[in-house]
Amino acid sequence: MQAADQLQEKAEAFLSNLPLSRDLGELEEAVRYSLLGGGKRIRPVLCLATGEALGARIDDLLPAACALELVHTFSLVHDDLPALDDDDLRRGQPSCHAKFGEAVAILAGDALLTEAFRLALRYPTPDVAREVAEATAGMIGGQYVDITTESDLDPAGLAALHRLKTGRLLAAPVGCALAVAKTPPRDQGPWRDFAADLGLLFQIVDDILDATGTSEELGKTPGKDAAAGKVTYVSLFGLDEARSIADDVRQRTERRLSSLPADTSVLAELVATIRERRT
Ligand code: IPE
Ligand code: IPE
Ligand code: MG
Ligand code: MG
Ligand code: MG
Repeated sequence: MQAADQLQEKAEAFLSNLPLSRDLGELEEAVRYSLLGGGKRIRPVLCLATGEALGARIDDLLPAACALELVHTFSLVHDDLPALDDDDLRRGQPSCHAKFGEAVAILAGDALLTEAFRLALRYPTPDVAREVAEATAGMIGGQYVDITTESDLDPAGLAALHRLKTGRLLAAPVGCALAVAKTPPRDQGPWRDFAADLGLLFQIVDDILDATGTSEELGKTPGKDAAAGKVTYVSLFGLDEARSIADDVRQRTERRLSSLPADTSVLAELVATIRERRT
């Protein structure tokens, strides 16, 4: 089993050396700018760590793991556009549209999504591509709810939104690892339950950090949710209660993890990082 930082290095190296379609021409610059401009790489690391726990090889997991990082980066490039969250800072540098203009940022997002599916096509079966497609559709549906919902979300509605817009791309690494490891569907349920809670936890913490973090720590502009009147765990429950909900979801996630029939020590490290992160 490799430690999380070793897995992150593997993902980073794979992304740095990723060949892009020549047909993208000079759009490649904006694509690589967004893809290689920092980022915690939590989704690929989660895929690699889950896959290793399931007995798969890192080299077999890397295309799926990094396909998800490409979809995630696409979601960030479009999330930052003026029509969505309008943020000029991402991963500690000007966001894609601030650097290259809105039209290029839209196309760079399109290219990232397409390149993700080129990676998923490296597998002999469609299972990875199906996981990527379903998670991407969930994220997009969640983003739609995020931008169209006024302030009438109740706690259940907010949890459902978070499970979609962020949870699905956080759960997909586990789904892809199950596909690469060829885990039979009858054994997948407990892994997927763990992944779904981890995804919810991730966005609750993101809501808290938006209210408490600095732009230096986060590499993006804090306070955007309150300024835009977004319903978040902080707006709905207040900071203290949001933290205690995050701790409850963390405990549930850890319980699910400890019941899995594998060495999940690296995954346990990741759960802790996701709750305790400041970036
Ligand atoms: C930010 O995701 C967007 C959300 C889904 C909350 P990350 O916090 O994983 O962002 P990077 O990849 O590290 O920049
Ligand atoms: C992100 O939600 C969900 C995405 C699909 C990108 P946020 O809008 O809260 O993400 P940040 O805070 O801008 O990273
Ligand atoms: Mg958003
Ligand atoms: Mg945003
Ligand atoms: Mg946020």
